[in-house]
Amino acid sequence: MNVDLVSQEKKIFFETYKRSPLIPVRGDGVYLFDENDNKFLDLVGGLGVNALGHAHPGIIKAVTDQINRFSHLSNAFINIPQVFLAEKILAATPGMEKVFFTNSGTESIEGALKLVRRWAKKNDRSDIYGFSKGFHGRTLGALSLTYKDKYREGFEPFMPEVKHLQFDSIKDLAQINEKTAAVFIEFVLGEGGIRPISCEFADELDRLHRKYKFLLVADEIQSGIGRTGQFFAYQWYTLKPDIVVCAKPIGGGLPLGAILGTEEINSLLQIGDHGTTFGGNPVACAAGLVVMDWLFEHDGIEHVKKTGKLLSEALKHLHDLFPDKIKSVRTFGLMAAIELSGDSSPYPAKAIEEGMIINATDSTVIRLLPPLIITETHIQEMTDKFKRILK
Ligand SMILES: Cc1ncc(COP(=O)(O)O)c(C=O)c1O
Repeated sequence: MNVDLVSQEKKIFFETYKRSPLIPVRGDGVYLFDENDNKFLDLVGGLGVNALGHAHPGIIKAVTDQINRFSHLSNAFINIPQVFLAEKILAATPGMEKVFFTNSGTESIEGALKLVRRWAKKNDRSDIYGFSKGFHGRTLGALSLTYKDKYREGFEPFMPEVKHLQFDSIKDLAQINEKTAAVFIEFVLGEGGIRPISCEFADELDRLHRKYKFLLVADEIQSGIGRTGQFFAYQWYTLKPDIVVCAKPIGGGLPLGAILGTEEINSLLQIGDHGTTFGGNPVACAAGLVVMDWLFEHDGIEHVKKTGKLLSEALKHLHDLFPDKIKSVRTFGLMAAIELSGDSSPYPAKAIEEGMIINATDSTVIRLLPPLIITETHIQEMTDKFKRILK
């Protein structure tokens, strides 16, 4: 069956994805299985989406219950799971007062860019800053903020008011002034290799934010929803964003994103100024409620803090064992990067042979975004598998 699927895939799809040789047919917790029931430890979790792993019983139940009522309503109606989920998200995000649900990360960024443009016109501001190594999505507005040439080439022109500063460079922050409309930032670079901003940089950005009162937009699409051991990564710092965007794990595997803002941000929009057909789908929101329940009613956040520490120790141990192959390791909660001395591209296929799923995000970087439910036993299994691969 697989041979057919591989050739069919090549024939019928736009060739935008490098597909894994593994074709999963089912999942269970932190594992995916192929048609021969071979088991794979999933350390990528659908690119940081499957917060509670695969086929989580709570998600299955919530989704089934909801789909038995209705699977879609449109935003012309109040949608009960949407209301409950928005309440939970706001309760976990002091300072934020309003929610707008989207379907994806890039769509959350687009909405935030529209809000920034409105605000900039009202307040006579112009410049929007992103950072080197930043990734914010691939639709045209979001791509204006995304840094890598590889993603941008041939898609110009981008939003003319968007410029990039060096990530984590206090010196570059001096370009921020009274003309600045907004700064979009990943507090921990995801695609850019799991690099958090330094406290000194955060303090300077905080000072400039208070001084010039531009809009600070936290891109929490990868780092948010408990992954770093706080609900949002920015909560490790003293900075207070005006807008927070999230997506990936918030729907527990179903497509869902959100834009959070203050009352002032909400006042920029009138009825009909922004909208989406699918955003805040009730089935996705029902799944999202299970994620929130796990994080806050079942000590999920504490679990991430604990397992994040174990993951960090395990990767440091591998670094000690293979100093010639591993240059450095970086972790922030359950986000991890292994910086190799050589080419990272052969490693995902080698890992598949060992029964493990990993992801190469840069020429020398392996990134891990395991489901948040990962345990010590899985981390030990990961260590053993990496030992075999690196040998
Ligand atoms: C930090 C960040 N922002 C935005 C995006 C875009 O999200 P999506 O792929 O859902 O459009 C991603 C996706 O990887 C991301 O990691």
